Amino acid sequence: MIYTSVLCALCLWLASRGVFGVDSDEVKSVSVMEGDSVTLHTNLTHIQTDIQILWTFKLNTRLAEIIKREQMNIYFVSKDVIFRDHLQMNSQTGSLTITNIKTEHSGLYQLQIISDPISYTSFTVIVHARLPVPVIIRNSSQCSSSSERSSVSKCVLLCSVMNVTHVSLSWYKGNSLLSSIIVSDLNIRLSLPLEVEYQDTNTYRCVINNPITNQTQHLDINNVCESCSALTMIPHWVGITVFFVLLITLTAAVGVLWFLYYRKT
Ligand SMILES: *[C@@H]1O[C@H](CO)[C@@H](O)[C@H](O)[C@H]1NC(C)=O
Ligand SMILES: *[C@@H]1O[C@H](CO)[C@@H](O)[C@H](O)[C@H]1NC(C)=O
Ligand SMILES: *[C@@H]1O[C@H](CO)[C@@H](O)[C@H](O)[C@H]1NC(C)=O
Ligand SMILES: *[C@@H]1O[C@H](CO)[C@@H](O)[C@H](O)[C@H]1NC(C)=O
Repeated sequence: MIYTSVLCALCLWLASRGVFGVDSDEVKSVSVMEGDSVTLHTNLTHIQTDIQILWTFKLNTRLAEIIKREQMNIYFVSKDVIFRDHLQMNSQTGSLTITNIKTEHSGLYQLQIISDPISYTSFTVIVHARLPVPVIIRNSSQCSSSSERSSVSKCVLLCSVMNVTHVSLSWYKGNSLLSSIIVSDLNIRLSLPLEVEYQDTNTYRCVINNPITNQTQHLDINNVCESCSALTMIPHWVGITVFFVLLITLTAAVGVLWFLYYRKT
């Protein structure tokens, strides 16, 4: 983690110094949804002779290249494992299209147009995974402890999602934001709690967001809180009544047996 950060900082610093020929002002950020296609444009309308167009990924993978010189005409598209069947380069313009994009295609793409003058353009492509719909469940450990009288009318809920990265997870009451967490690393299970009363009639929803899209789950208090409200909502007089009914039945039974025994002897 620390090494990655140091390495990144180093990269950024080197990039900002133009060590890789990357003019930091020229880095364009492109956000795209997993499964979609994205085209990185050269903005050339046609390719004249005496030009070389080179696309690289993370500064070391040669992705695609066009060379047009007097005696040379080269058109190359990489069959690199990660990019196989995902790359297309327009032979008229040199623009690069990544089809059915995956999260491993995130990163720095550099375009070099080697003619006179040489130009460099960099694109940072961020691929966002499709978002799962959050799941609202009851925290069942809260459930058993809520038999204590003080919390009898409360229900503690968790909104959770699995395997997500670069997202925020939020609870809304009507249109106002109640709470939110933001994660940037991969989280196997991300949960955000909410405490409600059984009688609450407000509308609540849990929303997961990334910069491109979101998914919403609406809360149905009756449904979700039901599981242990059946236990915790039993008023005390019910228990006491049941106890006395049992006691009276038992006493009567013993009395009857006693009476029968004495009549025999
Ligand atoms: C082409 O034009 C678009 C829109 O102005 C811009 O975002 C993109 O960076 C340009 N491409 C290059 C290589 O300059
Ligand atoms: C559920 O409630 C228990 C008891 O308060 C707490 O320790 C636990 O962290 C909660 N679970 C989650 C996933 O938040
Ligand atoms: C989460 O990721 C793990 C490991 O990659 C996988 O085994 C599991 O099935 C995933 N769970 C969901 C809900 O996608
Ligand atoms: C969710 O996305 C829709 C458009 O797809 C947008 O109108 C809405 O404001 C977004 N909601 C949140 C909470 O970001």
